[in-house]
Order: sequence, then structure tokens, then C-alpha cells
Amino acid sequence: MASDNGNIVLEVKNLVKEFKAPGSKAVVHAINDVSFELHRGETLGLIGESGSGKTTVGRCILRLIEPTSGSIMYKDMDLMKLSGKELRKLRPDMQMVFQDPSNALNPKMNVENTLLDTLNIKAKLSGEKLDTDAIIKKVLDQVAMEEDYRLRYPAEMSGGYQQRVCIARAICADPTLVVLDEPTSALDLPVCAGILDLLRRLQEELGIAYIYISHDLTTIKYICHRVAVMYLGEFVEVGSIDQVFNTPMHPYSNALMSSVMVPDPTKKAEVVTLEGEIPSPINLPQGCFFAARCPKATEECFKNHPQMVDMGGGHKVRCYRVTSE
Ligand SMILES: Nc1ncnc2c1ncn2[C@@H]1O[C@H](COP(=O)(O)OP(=O)(O)OP(=O)(O)O)[C@@H](O)[C@H]1O
Ligand SMILES: [Mg+2]
Repeated sequence: MASDNGNIVLEVKNLVKEFKAPGSKAVVHAINDVSFELHRGETLGLIGESGSGKTTVGRCILRLIEPTSGSIMYKDMDLMKLSGKELRKLRPDMQMVFQDPSNALNPKMNVENTLLDTLNIKAKLSGEKLDTDAIIKKVLDQVAMEEDYRLRYPAEMSGGYQQRVCIARAICADPTLVVLDEPTSALDLPVCAGILDLLRRLQEELGIAYIYISHDLTTIKYICHRVAVMYLGEFVEVGSIDQVFNTPMHPYSNALMSSVMVPDPTKKAEVVTLEGEIPSPINLPQGCFFAARCPKATEECFKNHPQMVDMGGGHKVRCYRVTSE
């Protein structure tokens, strides 16, 4: 994993996304001021409860949906300022793999045509002449699929193989960035392990940067270099896997990490149970979004909204109780 600035693929600053609540005039504050950077060949994990905004971050940075405000620098380009045409040209370089491969694939297209579809778009947009046959052969080999899968349709494959096709489709265009939105949660455990190994190997071979979205701390720990913990549309803590898993600072991360199984049975894990529910993204609390559930909250936490503070070594946290100590 690279760490110098020349290797930054993505730099997101103050990203905000508001939706209109269905059937009313209310505003859903899905993403509230998210900033981060991602390096070439690096994997950043996004973890957080359902509705915390993980998928919306992924879709905004690929501009599959329009962010409300903020800036997204991709390589040296300001994505928010690109025209539709410029953005289309960039599409093959930024890919997304979704949770359910059976929904993501066209049932009427076999593997070859699925990959050809993406390759033809790339060739048309870039004006390059691609040897599609050789690329398909190579990509199937990279995702460990035998040649005879080429003519198979989604219904003729297992979920694990369907997800390999989705990954093949994402990598055949030689992308710099792939957003993986819960890519293994619809798969059985052994199949999931195979897909994670495949993703790691492809990253080593091709230097792709990943944003890996998951509820599952174990897979995050296995595949990510860094992790961001999300709560109500914000990052509340970011750091390396070691920093966030071994020395979590935010009370919310602390509760999440306490639920990870401890491998040493002689060490008893102290599981922190959270009371209450995540607040509604329609009525954001005035102070810290986590205050009402936080065992450490004081008066200040209910009054003012904390900012992200770097506590050293890139380990950042948004919590008065940590930053004022
Ligand atoms: N198109 C939309 N219109 C209105 N609200 C939306 C829309 N898409 C997402 N939201 C809301 O934005 C918030 C964030 O949703 P998002 O899907 O990003 O969460 P998530 O962390 O990916 O959740 P999950 O773990 O369940 O996939 C939620 O409150 C969700 O209801
Ligand atoms: Mg999601």
C-alpha cells in the first residue's frame, strides 16, 4: 500500500447528501460532512449500522447519485465539475460490485456478453482498439473461472461464480477504483472466503484501490488496510485496522469492536451493549449524534457537535470525551 500524496486516488471533502423523504417534504440527511482520502492499491472499509450511509457514500463518490455538496477529487479531476460526457469517459475506471450478484447480472446475457458489454463501452469511450477475446480470456483466468464458463448464463452458475462474473466485469475495464458494497453477504462462508482471497489477490496483482462496505467486522479486518466507522451519515472514527480494532477511541467503535470474537478463550471479552436506537436522519440531534446512546456523554455532548480530530498517526476521532482528555 502506498502512502505518499502522489498516490492519492480519491480525496473526498465535506461530502453531504440529502434525499427527499418519500411521500413528504422532509429531508433525509443521509451523509453529513464526510471527508477522507484513498491511496492507490489501498482498501478502506466502511462499517456501521444499517442506514448509517455506507452505500450512499459509495454511490456519491462514483457519482451514480448527485452529492448535495462537497468536493470529490479523483486522481487530478474534480468530479463535481465534470460534464456528463467527461464523467461517462471516466466510468470504466471507477467500478462498483453489489451485494446480490443475481440482481446485478442480466439473466439474458452469458458471461462472455456480460464482459463484452463493458469492454465495448470502454473501447467506444476511449477510442482504443481492444483485443476483447484476449482480455476476456485473461480476466476469466484472473478470477479463477474455467474457459467453459464463457457461454454460461447467470442461472447456470452458483452465487459464488455469479459474484466472480461481477468482479470480472468490474476489473476487465482495468479500473483504478472499485467500490465493493457488501460483496460477500449473500454468499455462504466458504464461498465468501474464496471471494475475499480473490479480491486481495487481484489488488496485489493490479494495484486497484477498494472501498469495501460491510456490516461484518471479520471480513473488514481480513481485507482492509484502514477502516472508517460510520454513524448517522458521519465518520466517527478512522484509522488503520490495528488502530481501530485494537485501540478503538470512539465509544460507538468501542461497542462495535467489543462484539468481535476474541480468539484467545482464556481472555474474556467485555461486550458493550448499546441502549436505544440510531436517531432518525430526518431530525438530526443538535449535539453529538451518538450522545443519547453514549455511556460517556456529558452536557457538552448534547449541546455541541464534535469535529473529527487527528489523535496521531492518522487515527481520527469525533468525540469530545476523547479529544478533551
Ligand atoms: N433514494 C433515497 N431516498 C430517500 N432516502 C434514502 C435513499 N437512499 C438512501 N436513503 C436513506 O439514506 C440513509 C442512508 O442509507 P444507505 O443505504 O446509504 O445506508 P447503509 O449504511 O448502506 O445501510 P445498509 O447497511 O442497510 O445497506 C438511510 O436513512 C436511507 O433510508
Ligand atoms: Mg448499504
